[in-house]
Amino acid sequence: MSATGQSKRNTTAQIEAMKGTRPIVSLTAYTTPIARLLDPHCDLLLVGDSLGMVLYGLESTVGVTLDMMIAHGQGVMRGVQKACVIVDMPFGSYQESREQAFRNAVRILKETGCDGVKLEGGEEMAETVAFLTARGVPVFGHVGLMPQQVKTAGGYRALGRSEEEAEKIRRDAKAIEQAGAFALLVEGTVETLAREITASVGIPTIGIGASPACDGQILVSDDMLGLFSDFKPRFVKHFAELAPTVSKAVEAYAEEVKARTFPGPEHTFQVKK
Ligand code: KIV
Repeated sequence: MSATGQSKRNTTAQIEAMKGTRPIVSLTAYTTPIARLLDPHCDLLLVGDSLGMVLYGLESTVGVTLDMMIAHGQGVMRGVQKACVIVDMPFGSYQESREQAFRNAVRILKETGCDGVKLEGGEEMAETVAFLTARGVPVFGHVGLMPQQVKTAGGYRALGRSEEEAEKIRRDAKAIEQAGAFALLVEGTVETLAREITASVGIPTIGIGASPACDGQILVSDDMLGLFSDFKPRFVKHFAELAPTVSKAVEAYAEEVKARTFPGPEHTFQVKK
């Protein structure tokens, strides 16, 4: 907050206005120290429900709760000065009714102080998105591959290869734009479709596995930092290889502890003479 009580963070309106200016830089963040490191370089940080897999070892995002999202949203907010912070609404917290969605979105906004919420869904969620945006809740839409629906969608794969699939995603994107979302996350779609959607909506598209045709990009920060060494999807680039770095550091620590070379005299307190 500044002396006038105004936050210096990017607003959702500023993110919306970035369409057609320069690519929007986004990453996920789940904790205060990582948010501090990402904030100077990012326009938007998403407290994604991917934290279920990344931090809690869950198999999918389905088990993530509203309380988990709020706790991590609070942590991220403590580390951010500049980026717009959006918190994901977890599975089951908004699909039942627009009133349920509003109640839980308000909890997220009030208890974290974040700038808006993200929810997955196309035409079927448009009424809910319109209900929220008309009542002061900024919404980041999410179309294409929707991880919360992975149980009914039959797994993770890029969408939009068939005309039927592409047409459904086009209609989803348009419906969420018309419902008042300030931006649209487009996940796991072929390049031609991402390009078409980006040209046809007036709000920024932020892609993950959706080609360079989008108005911005987002990745799961632990993925791009190379913290998972076992699996790398095609759309992820490792900008660092932290998993082997962490492994080597822990191996060196274990050796020094066993050899009694750590802690050394410089790490040890003595009585002052
Ligand atoms: O939860 C998440 O991390 C997401 C990604 C697709 C960015 O929504």
